[in-house]
Amino acid sequence: MKRAVTPGTFDPITYGHLDVITRAAQLMDEVVVAVAASPGKNPLFSLEERTELAREATAHLPNVRVEPFDGLLVDFAKAQGAHALVKGLRAVTDFEYEFQMAALNYELSRDLETVFIMSPPQYMYLSSSIVRELASLGSPVDRFVPEHVAVALARKFVD
Ligand code: PNS
Repeated sequence: MKRAVTPGTFDPITYGHLDVITRAAQLMDEVVVAVAASPGKNPLFSLEERTELAREATAHLPNVRVEPFDGLLVDFAKAQGAHALVKGLRAVTDFEYEFQMAALNYELSRDLETVFIMSPPQYMYLSSSIVRELASLGSPVDRFVPEHVAVALARKFVD
């Protein structure tokens, strides 16, 4: 059984994330989307909200499940019985940070392989932070996130 973990803060999940998750699900038997608590990033959505938004966004993918986690990613991946971490790579600007994380995770666990999936051109510029900023300024975000995420964003900035 080839089981992979796709980790992230998912604040909130975007079509860019969904592209990586969908392609990972085609390569692997099972994909666990790991929603990190990431308290240092001061997320807009709570861990429960981010997990629920990601669950709804991936409900159509039968071999994907979504789990929240706190603590070290390698420990979570080990507890899940995963052999690979799958991450999306957008532009060269992502590389330095992702390279550092992949090297550190390799140091922490030699059994876990980090695999990168390149973002297609239409998602190269897309990030959760850009989506949050657009939504906070009242700009429509339905091209970048599923409808239920756009609704959740609109609620955050109206309340
Ligand atoms: O979507 P993000 O915020 O770029 O994802 C980063 C994430 C959550 C994958 C990373 O911060 C992480 O793995 N956090 C868990 C804590 C951990 O294991 N840190 C050391 C890994 S370098």
